[in-house]
Amino acid sequence: MKQALIVMTALAVLSGTAQIAAAADGKAVYDKSCASCHAKGLMGAPKTGDKDKWAPLIKTGQAALDESVMKGKGKMKPKAGNDALTADDIKAANEYLVKQSQ
Ligand code: HEC
Repeated sequence: MKQALIVMTALAVLSGTAQIAAAADGKAVYDKSCASCHAKGLMGAPKTGDKDKWAPLIKTGQAALDESVMKGKGKMKPKAGNDALTADDIKAANEYLVKQSQ
């Protein structure tokens, strides 16, 4: 009985960690490569969490937002100036950014 409880607790902890890791991807990219501008709205960047600014952008769709970041837009350089980022990184970061801003 006690052993079963330990196993179940271990499983719960493990699956919990896996979920956090998957969700943290976008956040990790955002914190490292996007927050510098978007957290404070630097250089005219739409500020993270500013629902009014983001609503019309979100309407253009995730694919359009991903493309803006891949190709660059205005003062935001292609791949947000970080060539090491993959399309998946940018997609995850955008998903995170949108989630914080709607
Ligand atoms: C050097 C500052 C800077 C960094 C770093 C940066 N951005 Fe931006 N971002 C901007 C600016 C400025 C705009 C507004 C561009 C415009 O409309 O002229 C913008 C616009 C956007 C938009 C809206 C695009 C559209 O279609 O209007 C998205 C989405 C976005 N950024 C996502 C990201 C993501 C994701 C990252 C990190 C991978 C990131 N940005 C990093 C400055 C930055």
